[in-house]
Amino acid sequence: MHQTDQNNHIPVLLDDVLTILKPEKGESYVDMTAGYGGHASAILAQTAAPELMTLVDRDEQAIAALEPLASKGAHIIHADFLTASQQLSNAGKQYDMILADLGVSSPHLDKASRGFSFTTDAPLDMRMDTSQALTAADVVNRYTEEELSDILWRFGEEPKARQIARMIVRNRPFTTTTQLAKIVTKAWPGHSKVHPATRTFQAVRIVVNNELGLLEQALPLWIDLLKPGGRVGVISFHSLEDRIVKRIFAEYSEGYEAKVTVLTKKPVTGSDKEIVSNPRARSAKLRAAEKINT
Ligand SMILES: C[S@@+](CC[C@H](N)C(=O)[O-])C[C@H]1O[C@@H](n2cnc3c(N)ncnc32)[C@H](O)[C@@H]1O
Repeated sequence: MHQTDQNNHIPVLLDDVLTILKPEKGESYVDMTAGYGGHASAILAQTAAPELMTLVDRDEQAIAALEPLASKGAHIIHADFLTASQQLSNAGKQYDMILADLGVSSPHLDKASRGFSFTTDAPLDMRMDTSQALTAADVVNRYTEEELSDILWRFGEEPKARQIARMIVRNRPFTTTTQLAKIVTKAWPGHSKVHPATRTFQAVRIVVNNELGLLEQALPLWIDLLKPGGRVGVISFHSLEDRIVKRIFAEYSEGYEAKVTVLTKKPVTGSDKEIVSNPRARSAKLRAAEKINT
């Protein structure tokens, strides 16, 4: 059982991350989604090299929570991980380990005002970086019916995408999370295992934060940023992200010019014990690869 950090965020698949990334004393590390520093602190305990640690997050609250690690010497970058990776790459940096634990942190979900959750009423926001312009309200109130239907289908894998898009357009403007959830629920009368608004909220969140686009562009840079023998791990939380990671690792591990060896034939998932103590682990999948010595 791992310690819960100051913000109630339990690092997911932590034992698996340590087993696969194998941190050694004096090794360098970039955490592309440092969040509340859970994985980073556990890795630091093994590398004992805070000055060789770079912590990236696009969220202001996460950056503030990383202060204890910054004060030990860790380098902090407040940016999305694509921008940060481009900066590190332009500076010619190379690392032993890179980790990305994608998605939303528990403090985001718990803090109703951020608008990620449909169970508490809040403005339709969903921005991980609150300085960016585009919010969930913009997407829901301004996108055309066709655009909404397309994103619900592609990013929410929502079977009733067209119907929900039509209902959104007929009933907008929406200002709060519960208003939106209520309309979506009407498309799904009766009971279902997951809340009917889950897929719609996922789709809107992915668009607001350009989650798939950033991952697709950043992962090849992470491979480039590794030293020979360096390891990269990515923890994803839905099939759309996992498919991107699987495909890019496969592309980079094939042929004469292969750059990595895939370390996880199948994605690593949480044990029953971990899932009971940390519900976030339920959908977590870890894939990892090692840079080939050339
Ligand atoms: C699940 S939390 C990470 C938790 C962290 N591994 C820990 O143990 O404390 C995900 C974090 O990634 C950040 N994030 C998500 N997408 C990002 C992106 N494209 N660039 C930078 N940070 C991102 C979020 O702001 C959030 O703080």
